[in-house]
Amino acid sequence: MYIDLKDHWTMNSPISYPAHVAALKPYVPGLPISAVAARSGIAQDRIVKLASNENPLGASPKALAALSRAAIDLSRYPDSDCAALSDAIAAFHDVPRDWIVVGAGSESVLGNLVSTLLQPGRSTAYSQYSFQAYVNAAQKLGATSTVVPSPDFRVDLEGLADAIQPSTALVYIANPGNPTGTVVDPDALEAFLDRVPAHVVVLLDEAYFEFMPADLRGDSVAWVRRHPNLVVTRTFSKAYGLAGLRIGYGIAQSGLSDVMRRVRSPFTISDAAQVAAIAALDDVEFIEQTVAMTDQGRSALISGLGAKGYRCIRSHTNFILADVGGGAAFASRLEKQGLIVRPVTAYGLADWVRISIGTPAEIGRILAVPSGVNTS
Ligand SMILES: Cc1ncc(COP(=O)(O)O)c(C=O)c1O
Repeated sequence: MYIDLKDHWTMNSPISYPAHVAALKPYVPGLPISAVAARSGIAQDRIVKLASNENPLGASPKALAALSRAAIDLSRYPDSDCAALSDAIAAFHDVPRDWIVVGAGSESVLGNLVSTLLQPGRSTAYSQYSFQAYVNAAQKLGATSTVVPSPDFRVDLEGLADAIQPSTALVYIANPGNPTGTVVDPDALEAFLDRVPAHVVVLLDEAYFEFMPADLRGDSVAWVRRHPNLVVTRTFSKAYGLAGLRIGYGIAQSGLSDVMRRVRSPFTISDAAQVAAIAALDDVEFIEQTVAMTDQGRSALISGLGAKGYRCIRSHTNFILADVGGGAAFASRLEKQGLIVRPVTAYGLADWVRISIGTPAEIGRILAVPSGVNTS
């Protein structure tokens, strides 16, 4: 395709960048504990981070045990094909092994998918208040995006289907969503998949799948069997507690998964991550414990914040989105107490914060902070 360079390159520096790259906004992660300790003077072990939807119980014990047993040779490159892990994931979902694409976090699988599909002139579609990474992933490849309004913080599937244009190559849906925590009705999602043209790929991002109640879950792997244009992603970062190892995967039929593997950089997934993920897949007890604690914590946090007059969106994840009437000021007030929560101004939600569900003690500390007037 011919691209007019005048439109795509900036000339304000000796190095010229494509305009879509120059316009990229940096991703703002949850503040690290060390950074808050350094600027607040609070000891690291008194700081509670509830800003990145990590597992407050730590890592899967089975993963930790497997790591301590494994003889990993750090002088060797890891298994680039992730053969044993791909076998384990394929068995877990009862799908062929070549349907599995492992990545350094599910976000990297998303990166592989977008680089197989997007280029200037192509576009994506997704719901308002979708995961920030979707925006950048499309923009950095020069693709444009159609954002479908979500006045009730839910994905409008009708609106999303109507937003598909001839240029649309990819539709993203996170279920449950981040930062909303809301879920999509499984029957409506199935009907949506039937409606999407065969040449448009759907990324169904299930990073928080384990936290969804059974009656709200659809059989997304069965949908992959029926739709060669569907990719389902899962992660070990959330319920499995392995965020620090960077490991996740996608499931898609052979055509799509083969291309995604071809664009994946070699050796990006460490042997430690592969060993831990294989063991974590088997750690049913830990997932059950995590989900039970999360369910109780979510109710306690929502009712405690409600008693302070803050409205929360009904969440089926390990975090809640709360209208605190000024998210940045609220977060900075909590930070002074050693509590890290996530303002969501980047999503256009300046009044809101996202708070991950912590342990009962951590939630107690959040709720103990006086409501006060928001001053930063
Ligand atoms: C909706 C959603 N998808 C994907 C990810 C990426 O997770 P990871 O790359 O750690 O697997 C996240 C992380 O916060 C998320 O919230």
